[in-house]
Amino acid sequence: MDERKLYSYTGIFDTPDEIIHAADAVAGKGYVKYDVHTPYPLHGMDNAMRLKPSKIGYATLVFGLSGAVAALLTLFWMAAVDYKLVIGGKPFFSFPAYVPIIFEVTVLSASVITVLTMLFIFFKLPNNSHPLNSTGYMKKVSSDKYGISIQADDPNFNEEEVKLFLSSLHAKDITPIYYDPEEVNYKHVILQPKFLGFLALVAFLTSGITYFTLNKLMYMVPFNWMDEQAKVIPQQKSAVFADGFGMRQPVNGTVARGQMPFLYNDKPEEAAVNLVNLLLPSKENLSLGETKYNIYCSPCHGYHAEGDSRLRGQFPNPPSLHSEKVKNWTDGRIFYVITEGQNIMPSYATQLTPEERWAVILYIRALQRSLNAKESDLK
Ligand code: HEC
Repeated sequence: MDERKLYSYTGIFDTPDEIIHAADAVAGKGYVKYDVHTPYPLHGMDNAMRLKPSKIGYATLVFGLSGAVAALLTLFWMAAVDYKLVIGGKPFFSFPAYVPIIFEVTVLSASVITVLTMLFIFFKLPNNSHPLNSTGYMKKVSSDKYGISIQADDPNFNEEEVKLFLSSLHAKDITPIYYDPEEVNYKHVILQPKFLGFLALVAFLTSGITYFTLNKLMYMVPFNWMDEQAKVIPQQKSAVFADGFGMRQPVNGTVARGQMPFLYNDKPEEAAVNLVNLLLPSKENLSLGETKYNIYCSPCHGYHAEGDSRLRGQFPNPPSLHSEKVKNWTDGRIFYVITEGQNIMPSYATQLTPEERWAVILYIRALQRSLNAKESDLK
């Protein structure tokens, strides 16, 4: 009697036909814990062994669905809860925009987690030993023979019977395979310190070598003379001036060309009286005003200034610009609103030059007139 623990009985066959026949017979006899080893994949082997489709597909399905749900929730949280931002007038929760990301995350989590599950759960990584490793049997079946191995933990296993059965199939080299003593006592631990150390070493070496290659071996100094030249950048100190500031204030009492300051901050009434539209309602000026109005004002005020915003309720609708109030305002008063904003309407001073603002006002006047055409306008 052998002291060692039996893993399986193996037999060798010479041709693909023989091994398929043998596999069919072994499966037919009711053995379930057995395996076939061939140097290359054999057509018809799945049927002969009566293998059912692998269950790994279910795991993949679960991982894929979890990935999809996780992506959806993340996007929902970011776009509709945590950081709401109107993008192109779309709703915060805009499913079509999420589809590509959800698709990517689904595929990624399904495939990556499936591979990890196979490696760590089914193949029991980091363990890489197996009773069949380094046996004469493995040597043969990995070069030019075909082998079958019936395991001792099969419910129908009986040593004498299996030996007789294999020889009745005309198997050659019928050999018992034993566990290594350390394999018998092996317990599967994924997070072995040795294994983790190995992973860390691989990560360290690959990133270190990549860093060294890209940043030292292959590094070429870029032409960055203009970047590196001596110059004062915004907010920097400078020893040239007595006050130590790099950025300079305009000289007192001067106005830079084209930079006429707006003198009526918080003084709408003074703006209304003192500011006058110097632009003539020429074709060019009206068409400039129309272009700028349509770009900067129409999203909220509507193309005809009736307050019919296109933002679908995401920004409060402004009042109509055809009201008696606005009609009676001077151009200067409207100029004040465009320049300073009014309550929730923001200032458009950075988007529109003063001249463009006056042109927009000409265009608003034309819109107002269009709803109140006089008979003389028809002539
Ligand atoms: C982001 C949306 C938005 C844009 C763009 C916008 N407005 Fe307004 N505007 C408003 C809202 C809202 C009000 C009403 C503010 C309030 O509650 O007083 C308003 C008020 C006004 C008023 C005063 C109306 C009144 O009855 O008090 C004028 C005049 C005006 N806008 C002109 C313009 C012009 C000209 C432009 C383009 C340069 C423009 N707005 C662009 C939202 C906008």
